Amino acid sequence: MSESDMRRARDAAPAAPRHVAIIMDGNGRWAAQRSLPRAEGHRRGVEALRRAVRNASDLGVEYLTVYSFSSENWTRPKDEVGALMMLLKRFIRNDLAELHANGVRVRVIGAREGLPSDIAPLLAEAEEITRNNTKLTLVVAFNYGGRQEIIAAARALAQDVAAGKLRAEEIDAALFESRLTTRGIPDPDLVIRTSGERRISNFLPWQSAYAEFVFTDVLWPDFDRAAFENALAEFATRERRFGGVNAINQKTAS
Ligand code: IPE
Ligand code: IPE
Ligand code: MG
Repeated sequence: MSESDMRRARDAAPAAPRHVAIIMDGNGRWAAQRSLPRAEGHRRGVEALRRAVRNASDLGVEYLTVYSFSSENWTRPKDEVGALMMLLKRFIRNDLAELHANGVRVRVIGAREGLPSDIAPLLAEAEEITRNNTKLTLVVAFNYGGRQEIIAAARALAQDVAAGKLRAEEIDAALFESRLTTRGIPDPDLVIRTSGERRISNFLPWQSAYAEFVFTDVLWPDFDRAAFENALAEFATRERRFGGVNAINQKTAS
């Protein structure tokens, strides 16, 4: 390949995703396949999360968002909810120092209301300690529900209008975004869901309006470097148009 061919090939290749968001699903089925309790699947899921953070960092991803507990997951049996809360606490306590040493900034999205009283301060502390890190931003979606997030933003804006601080005509996408818990985080380029389910389950509905979706049958505890690379390779074959026309059509049209 000549140098100009190489340059052309490089320019045509879609950029690596800056922001990858993952619906970490299938812990329960992973455990059931081995006749283990569901909590063991969740424990192995945390190991897969550690791996994913390292891999995202190595693969040049700038933002990694992980769906770790949805607003709807409160409907699960009390024991399972308790196990998930304990795992989150352990993850923050045990892994924060290493994340910090590796330049990872932690952000938590979702509702802080309704969380056990020992969790909210831990989350705030993780965000505070790592706030100046720049290698990778790990966004933990915890007690997160996309519809709830949109409603909370709408309510906050409505209150400002009612108080005379804002005119309804001033509300646009940028202002709306500034009231979401994801404020300041670029939209995900790629959303991955493991475990073979093909739905978004209330995950980032506003933010993923133009994301690419990759669904894999791999259960979350088995999600490894190869699975991550496969998802990025699939992303690289996609042509993103954002409502416009692709490069070939553009050429024939002009
Ligand atoms: C994902 O695994 C983890 C959480 C939702 C917290 P699941 O627990 O949903 O696993 P499956 O879907 O039952 O296999
Ligand atoms: C979505 O998975 C939530 C998380 C991965 C944290 P679920 O397992 O809760 O989703 P549904 O119920 O299958 O849609
Ligand atoms: Mg599930």
